[in-house]
Formats: sequence, C-alpha cells, structure tokens
Amino acid sequence: MRDKSKKIFVAGHKGLVGSAIVKVCKDNGYSNILTRTREELNLTNASAVEEFFKKERPQYVFIAAAKVGGIHANSTYPVQFLLDNLKIECNLIESSAKYEAEKVLFLGSSCIYPRLAPQPLKEEYLLTGLLEPTNEAYAISKIAGIKLCRAYYRQYGKNFISVMPCNLYGPNDNYHPTESHVLPALIRRFHFAKLNNDKEVVVWGTGKPLREFLYSLDCAEACLFLMENCDASEIGEFINIGSGREYPIASLVEYVKKTVGYQGNIVFDHTKPDGTPRKVMDISRITALGWRPKFSLEDGLALAYEDFLKKM
Ligand SMILES: NC(=O)c1ccc[n+]([C@@H]2O[C@H](COP(=O)([O-])OP(=O)(O)OC[C@H]3O[C@@H](n4cnc5c(N)ncnc54)[C@H](OP(=O)(O)O)[C@@H]3O)[C@@H](O)[C@H]2O)c1
Repeated sequence: MRDKSKKIFVAGHKGLVGSAIVKVCKDNGYSNILTRTREELNLTNASAVEEFFKKERPQYVFIAAAKVGGIHANSTYPVQFLLDNLKIECNLIESSAKYEAEKVLFLGSSCIYPRLAPQPLKEEYLLTGLLEPTNEAYAISKIAGIKLCRAYYRQYGKNFISVMPCNLYGPNDNYHPTESHVLPALIRRFHFAKLNNDKEVVVWGTGKPLREFLYSLDCAEACLFLMENCDASEIGEFINIGSGREYPIASLVEYVKKTVGYQGNIVFDHTKPDGTPRKVMDISRITALGWRPKFSLEDGLALAYEDFLKKM
C-alpha cells in the first residue's frame, strides 16, 4: 500500500478503532479515504454492500465495523452478535474478493482465545480450548472472519489478513454507563465522582488482575504498518497487536484517578469477582516485524480524557 492515492475503505470509521485508522492514514499522507455511516450503508445488507463495492472498487479495506458490546449485551443478545458480525464480515470480505481489492485487514479481538489459554496469549493457541461462555457468540463470529480471510488466501491467493488487538482505549470510545469497556467506564465513574464530590469510588474485585491496554492510535499505526509492509504469506492466520505492558487493575485505577484529578478514596470490593487473573498478548511476532507502540498509558489516558470532556 505504498501508493498514497489508492482508494481505501475504512468500514466502521466512526468507532474507536475505525476513527483512529482514518486519522493515521490521513496523517501518513493517504488522500483517497472512503467512509460510509451506517445510515448510508448498512453493512449487514449484502446487496447494498455489493453495490457499493461494484461502484467504488476500493483497493484497500480495513474492517473495523462490528457489533461490539460488554458481557451483559453479549450474553443477552447472542443471536444479534452472531448474525450481525457474520453478515458484516462475510459481506465485506466476499465483495472485497469479487471486486478485486488488493488487500483486506480484518479486526478481531482477544476474546477469540480459549478461556484458560496459557498467558501471554500466543497466536497458536487459537481453537485449543473452550471459549469464555459470556462472549462466545462474538468470539465465534470473529473466528469465522479470520478463517474466511485465510480461506480466501489459501484457495484464491487473496492478500487478506487478520489482526487481534488487546484492550483498546482512546478518542471516540464508548462511554455508555453500562455498555462500556473497563477503561472508559473508569474514566466516566471518576469524572462524575469528582463532579459530585464523592468521598469514595468503589471498584469491583481485589485490584490484582493483570490487564494490557493499547492506545487506539497505536493500534491504528500497527494496522497501517501491516497493510503497508506485511502480506498474508508472512503473517499467517492472524497476528496479535498489543502494548506488551500489563498493569494490575489497582494501578490502572490510580492512573485514571490521577488523570481525572479525583481527590477521594478508592475502595476495592473484594466480595465481587475478579475475572481472569491475567490477560496479556504475546506480541513477539509483530515486534519482530518492526512495529512498536508509541504512547505511554499516562499520555494515552490524558488524551482519552480530553476527548471524553469534549463529548460531555
Ligand atoms: N474496543 C476495544 O477494546 C477492541 C479491542 C480489540 C479489538 N477490537 C475490535 O475492533 C473492531 C472495532 O471495535 P471498536 O471498539 O472500534 O467498536 P465501535 O467503537 O463500536 O465501532 C464499531 C463501528 O462499526 C459500525 N457498525 C456496526 N454495525 C454496523 C452496520 N451494520 N453497518 C455499518 N456500520 C456498522 C459502528 O457504527 P455506528 O457508529 O453507527 O454504531 C461503529 O462505527 C471490532 O472488530 C472489535 O472486535 C476492539
């Protein structure tokens, strides 16, 4: 993807990852970036997606559109999580092949790995054990997307690749009170605790579990790096993207408290579940290819909080 005038379609450009990919592409001099809102093009609609590809013929396709949600949404609406995500990825991947896109990058997530996989998570652990039941529908749909990209490579030589990022955060994150991921949820809670002068913020669990976080623009840089430099023959089935840095939830919470400027106390509710003790990606394959993250957690959090304040 060296020719900066080639047509790039970023599916899901309003989301956390898609908006970061658009920014990073523009910052790197790509000028021909196609985007469509859900109202303009519902990606679950096969004939509409095909019409769009037939007309526009994008040469590079980033698939950052997905039905995304927390544990509650995942376990309450498994039908929608399976159907929407399967339709979105099948429509985009099939049309990319039919209308001869030169390269496709499909985004999955670390929930594709077995619940009890050894840590750090290596790419080869895919399908070596049972999935986490609370987000099984989402994980199955993402595994299907990886396999479809790989099948197109094996059967037709298509340069379709997949990436698995760790937990992400950054501008355009979802700050919904019940549907957001851990970091945006903490930003929101500390922000309102500060405004309300609350004496304490209660955090579920012991604070001991270890988690990995990556700033969304770092993830987007990694996606662009792979689009530009690494083909399906080199990448294999998929490749992890992460920061390689893991934090106990307790220190993550301290970072958020400091970023937001909250003065009260943090109380850990030990009666509530901790979840898995450690979840971290093995990023040795992508770092061996030459990519490194740039943002520290402190800098990324400051930028994410700035964005949160703009949207309040
Ligand atoms: N967030 C994370 O921590 C994380 C971590 C690892 C991997 N990922 C992966 O990265 C990808 C993107 O995640 P994200 O966090 O950026 O999600 P997001 O913020 O929810 O963005 C998803 C985007 O997809 C669009 N979309 C969903 N269904 C659509 C449809 N039927 N037609 C058209 N557009 C549709 C949404 O449009 P609307 O704006 O209209 O809703 C939104 O712009 C996902 O595959 C996810 O698994 C995310």
